[in-house]
Amino acid sequence: MKFYQAENYEAMSRKAAEIIAEQVKSKSDCVLGLATGSTPVGTYKQLVEWYNKGELSFAKVHSVNLDEYVGLAGEHEQSYRYFMQTNLFDHVDIERENTNVPNGLAADPEAECARYNKVIRDLGGIDLQLLGLGHNGHIAFNEPGNGFELETHTVDLTESTIEANKRFFESADEVPRRAFTMGIKNIMQARSILMVVNGEAKADIVCRAFTGPVTTDVPASVLQLHPNVTIVGDKAAMSKLVEAGVEVE
Ligand code: F6R
Repeated sequence: MKFYQAENYEAMSRKAAEIIAEQVKSKSDCVLGLATGSTPVGTYKQLVEWYNKGELSFAKVHSVNLDEYVGLAGEHEQSYRYFMQTNLFDHVDIERENTNVPNGLAADPEAECARYNKVIRDLGGIDLQLLGLGHNGHIAFNEPGNGFELETHTVDLTESTIEANKRFFESADEVPRRAFTMGIKNIMQARSILMVVNGEAKADIVCRAFTGPVTTDVPASVLQLHPNVTIVGDKAAMSKLVEAGVEVE
C-alpha cells in the first residue's frame, strides 16, 4: 500500500485528482469506479477545473458508482445519481450512457444487483476504484460484519448511518432504509484502488484499518490484501497512522 499525506483538504483533493487524471490520460477509455460522500467533492472539483482548462477529457471514459439508495429516483437531490451529475458528470464531457449508478427505483432489487455485476463484468472490470472511508471502517455500504465474498447486493442501513444521513432529509422517516452497494469482491477486483480520507475524526479508523488485522469488523482492512492501493489523506486523517510508524510520502 502507498500512503500520501497532504497538508490539507485542498492538497489531498489535488493529489487524488492527479492520480485519476493520470489514469484517464494513460487509458482514455478506462473504467473509473466512483464514490459519493463529502470527501471526494474537492477531487471532482479539481477534475472539472482541469477539464475546463482543456487538460483532461472524459469522452471515452466509462464509470460505475459504488452505491445508491433503494427507493430514490435519480432526480432526487439525495440520490447518489444526482450527486454524481451535480458534482462531476454535468460539468465534463462524459457520455451519460457511459455512466452507471444502481437504479434506486428498480422493481426487482435482486435482478438489479445481477444487472449491475454484469455491467461491471461487460466493461472488463474497473481500472481505478475511488473510495471514501466510513467512521466504522465501511467502504461503499459494506458495513462491519458483512462478508468479503459479496458482489453487488442490498443492505439495511445501520442506525448510525441513518442518523448520520438524516440531516439531508426533511425528517428521519424520509431517510431510505436500504441501499444497493457493490460488494467487497467487486471492489477487490478493481485493478487499482484510491482511497481519500480527511479530518481528525477519521484518524483512528485509518490507523485501525491499515495497521490492524484484516477483519470483517473493519471492512476497509481487506484493502491490505490488494496489490495496488493508494491512500491519500490530509494530515489530520493520517496522524495516527504516522504515530504508529507507518511510512507516508
Ligand atoms: C459513498 C460511499 C461511502 C462513503 C463513506 C465516507 O459512495 O460509499 O462509503 O465513502 O461513508 O463518507 P464521507 O466522505 O462523507 O465521509
